[in-house]
Amino acid sequence: MKTEFSPSLLSADFSQLKEEVRLVESADYLHFDVMDGVYVPNITFGPTLIKAVRPYSELPFDTHLMITKPERYVEEFVKAGSDLLTIHYEATDHIHRVIQLIKSYDIKAGCSLNPATPLDSLEYILPDLDLVLIMSVNPGFGGQSYIPQITDKIKKLSKIIKDNNYDCKIQVDGGIKNHNLKNIINAGADIIVAGSAIFGAEDPAEALAEMRRIAEDA
Ligand code: DX5
Ligand code: ZN
Repeated sequence: MKTEFSPSLLSADFSQLKEEVRLVESADYLHFDVMDGVYVPNITFGPTLIKAVRPYSELPFDTHLMITKPERYVEEFVKAGSDLLTIHYEATDHIHRVIQLIKSYDIKAGCSLNPATPLDSLEYILPDLDLVLIMSVNPGFGGQSYIPQITDKIKKLSKIIKDNNYDCKIQVDGGIKNHNLKNIINAGADIIVAGSAIFGAEDPAEALAEMRRIAEDA
């Protein structure tokens, strides 16, 4: 399967988001990192910003909710224009119910696991998921270093998905750069999230193109 890319706007210039999203129009998704200052020690933005950006991109909007009790805001993020909504396993008491709620709006549902959360947590929800987001840094900030033991976690998840024939993609988020991209893809990542590697580069369009070239050779 061809590797897909979801540039994270967290490292973009927020004073000119309209222009920034156009630079990565050749990506496969646009990744929005929503943080509430409770679930993670940082605050970013909410549905209002996503709605404001919606007219400026044709890409599917991939919304990563790093908020506590995400069930309270699912409808708002769907209405804002999300095509894929990912919540954290650790952020709700009723993960199965929230996944069903997301799916009831006919959009794709993802579940994210923090670095220390075991894959076992997914056992009874994996058949319902369109995507698992494996965090390769602790959520909250862009520009952190990739945690090396996550590569093994990706491999194990990839095997579980293949063995059971699940229709579920693996997305990996955090610390992905040109130098570790190949390994992460070979471990089984289907969708790569990259923030600082793309928007921190002088030429984000070229940085994305270079990542695609690396992925093609992987
Ligand atoms: C971290 C976010 C990531 C972040 C990745 O909490 O979920 O999406 O933007 O940034 P980089 O690619 O810079 O590690
Ligand atoms: Zn993210």
